[in-house]
Amino acid sequence: MGLTTAACLAHLGHRVVCADLDEARVAALRRGEIPIVEAGLAEIVASTLANGTLTFEVGAAKAAADADVVFLCVPTPQGPDGGADLRYIEGAAAEIAAALRPGALVVNKSTVPVGSTRAVEDVLHRPDVAVVSNPEFLREGTAVTDFLNPDRVVIGADDHAAGERLADVYAPLRSAVLITDPASAETIKYAANGFLAMKISFVNAIAAMCEAVGANVDDVVEGIGSDERIGRSFLKPGPGWGGSCFPKDSKALVKIAADYGYDFTMMKGVIDVNEEQRRRMVGKVRTALGFGPGGGLRGALVAVLGLTFKAGTDDLRDSPSLTMVRSLLASGAKVRAFDPTVGLGAEGTKNASLDGIELAADAIAAARGGRVLVIATEWPEFAKLDLDEVAAVMADDAVIVDARNLLDPAAVRAAGLRYDGVGRP
Ligand code: UDX
Repeated sequence: MGLTTAACLAHLGHRVVCADLDEARVAALRRGEIPIVEAGLAEIVASTLANGTLTFEVGAAKAAADADVVFLCVPTPQGPDGGADLRYIEGAAAEIAAALRPGALVVNKSTVPVGSTRAVEDVLHRPDVAVVSNPEFLREGTAVTDFLNPDRVVIGADDHAAGERLADVYAPLRSAVLITDPASAETIKYAANGFLAMKISFVNAIAAMCEAVGANVDDVVEGIGSDERIGRSFLKPGPGWGGSCFPKDSKALVKIAADYGYDFTMMKGVIDVNEEQRRRMVGKVRTALGFGPGGGLRGALVAVLGLTFKAGTDDLRDSPSLTMVRSLLASGAKVRAFDPTVGLGAEGTKNASLDGIELAADAIAAARGGRVLVIATEWPEFAKLDLDEVAAVMADDAVIVDARNLLDPAAVRAAGLRYDGVGRP
């Protein structure tokens, strides 16, 4: 989020100094090396480095010293009680406090509990510096286009003039800008992520119902999605939502509500459905292998295509695929997996969350000898698999568990494989 924001602001014509604590990372960025898979980011970093609008610095204080506007883009991981852990944002604020020039604007882009804009003000102790909240809505994999084409820019400011100053920074985007008080802006971020998670949990619950009653979720989504009030987006059934935002933000929303005396039972249900959906995927694999619920899987070989939490990223954080894989491994199954972005470099092979998984060089190598093949991430290349080749390398009577409804069930069956999707008859 920080790198995308920095490079895109430079692309808009601002002079941007992007800071990180990690010296090796800063050195790599100065060479134009991008540490994550993110479409279009390498190009925009290269062009802004080349024209001198983007530079990199070790340490926040140095970067902040000459700045008119300072964006805080630090992680807010989940703390032990489900709430957001504010140590990085408070640390960053403390680091820049003395360095800020008079009248600078500090912008918090990190997702923080309601009231945190004030907490940043308290740490800064700089009455001459305005602090505003500016939640981000970037998705991994499409972060650059999301930044450059926002549906809206949300700014939370006690001082309207400070909000307008930040709106000017975004002016080249010609986007709608909503200036609110800080508590509303902070709530907008959680409410947006909570609502989107709710849509996915809803469709996953409907998919479970479709399986029970013999309906087809594809048709149901088409039927409800064409109602303008509902819309088609974020209604793709799958193995449950994951990633670095929805899981932690949905729990934080429940926690913030509870802290203020509101029992957010609906959001708890959204989270429960998601956990159940992840278990349902494991159940599908068990059924496909001919085992009932619980008990060992005695060395059965399961092939898994896709390990990241969604396509278009190399991010494994809270990936539904990994939840499923860990459960299968714990039951004694062998898992051979392929993901186009995982395990290729040193980063992947030393990632502890991949322990126990045999990584294959391609999809066919993963499938070889397997009794079940799971499509766990919707990488477009999996939709183009040669299903005859898959059937030829897999064990007899093999099953494809399509946790993303990526394949055409008729084509899978025509290749001599069995098929089980999500909410499809
Ligand atoms: C999300 C928000 O979309 C973004 O606005 C916010 O800034 C950060 O969190 P991201 O985590 O990158 O972005 O992923 P997103 O594309 O929203 O998907 C989240 C999860 O939901 C993934 O696991 C994805 O596979 C799943 N999903 C999404 C579905 O299962 N079905 C859908 O229809 C959409």
